[in-house]
Amino acid sequence: MKLLTKSWDKINPLDINTYIRQRGYEALQKVVRMPPEDVVNEIKSSGLRGRGGAGFSTGEKWEMAATAKADEKYFICNLDESEPGTYKDRMIAEKNPHQILEGLLIGAYAIGAKKTYIYINGNYKKQAEILRIAIDQAREKEFLGKGILGSAVDIEMEIFEGAGAYICGEETALINSIEGKRGEPRLKPPFPPISGLFGKPTIVNNAETLANIAYIVRQGAKEFSCRGFSTSPGTKLFVLSGAVKNKGIIEAPLGITAQELIYNSLYGGGLEAGKEFWFAQIGGAAGRLMPVGKLDQPLAYSNCEFPVGSGSILVVDKNADLKDHLLSWAGFFHRESCGKCVPCREGTYRMREIAKRLKNNDLRKKDRENIEDILWTLGNTTFCPLGKFAASAWGDAIKMFGKEIIL
Ligand SMILES: Cc1cc2nc3c(=O)[nH]c(=O)nc-3n(C[C@H](O)[C@H](O)[C@H](O)COP(=O)(O)O)c2cc1C
Ligand code: SF4
Repeated sequence: MKLLTKSWDKINPLDINTYIRQRGYEALQKVVRMPPEDVVNEIKSSGLRGRGGAGFSTGEKWEMAATAKADEKYFICNLDESEPGTYKDRMIAEKNPHQILEGLLIGAYAIGAKKTYIYINGNYKKQAEILRIAIDQAREKEFLGKGILGSAVDIEMEIFEGAGAYICGEETALINSIEGKRGEPRLKPPFPPISGLFGKPTIVNNAETLANIAYIVRQGAKEFSCRGFSTSPGTKLFVLSGAVKNKGIIEAPLGITAQELIYNSLYGGGLEAGKEFWFAQIGGAAGRLMPVGKLDQPLAYSNCEFPVGSGSILVVDKNADLKDHLLSWAGFFHRESCGKCVPCREGTYRMREIAKRLKNNDLRKKDRENIEDILWTLGNTTFCPLGKFAASAWGDAIKMFGKEIIL
């Protein structure tokens, strides 16, 4: 069932020839002889959904940029990855960088972009260096640059190192950051495929999304879409952490239940000795809390109660202190709020204050009254989804355990 990680142990990330020996760049060679619209259609019919969190159809997004009329277009790989407990994009860059490069080049060809960027989290120094070496080696082999593989196609690639802000993973804040502006989200619409970097049609795709592209082009859309969940085909890189035995990155088909992912010996292998499952957080700090009664729910992108988001799964056992988790989530979103809109800037601040007082057994009567107001405001009135993310786990904790018990 492995598509993404299958050849990782045969690849030396610093040697392009080891990637080529695993059929690397075969898809790019095929693509530069295809009409770009056929490439878009192949990705559309694969049903691939973006792995950056929201799960939007990759092919439909590419189609928007491909059909937009403009003298210049851009394609950006999103490797900002700042979600707590998530490091799957970092691992792709580290283990098989050309898998990202090949997907990015195919995407750029499909939409007609001559310039591509890899926007990488500023803390990922080692991975940025690996990608730089990969770009140089790909250029030497004529996979990128002027006249790719003897064709008339020119595509350039540049690495842009961010400063590690969570909000710069949001595509419009990321675009602002490349333009040299403050890393704050833009109002949508217009959406980036219509007006993105420097006002031109731009695709931003997550690194894992792009890592699927060469496989789809080489093997065909059907071979990809027959795996995974009906509305979310393919496999996913899950990052397991917390009280589970086998921690780390696990590739599994989308639609897998949390029960199987956590307990099957092929994956999580159950809980650490002496620990009892309490709840799991699905999709990072922005994710929802799954109680034991919901473990049989599929993990996918749509038609499911627990969207898989970035793919990180935190398993929490009954000995854990919920107050620590509530403070950690509130602290993260308060720190990462970009400050552009009042409900998030103030709401995350107030939430962290309440979380601190809760931890110190110093709650005020007003805190109990205010918390629902703050959660509603974050969930419904903020400029970008970060506000909703901040309210997600807190809201679930209150629903699951009761406000009277927590506060
Ligand atoms: C606050 C916030 C942070 C985000 N961080 C990331 C990130 O680190 N990596 C990522 O790929 N997408 C992130 N996204 C989603 C991006 O805005 C965008 O939807 C994604 O890069 C599109 O790629 P995909 O279609 O391949 O998933 C974030 C969104 C929000 C609202
Ligand atoms: S919701 Fe938060 S992160 Fe988003 S724009 Fe407002 S202040 Fe910035």
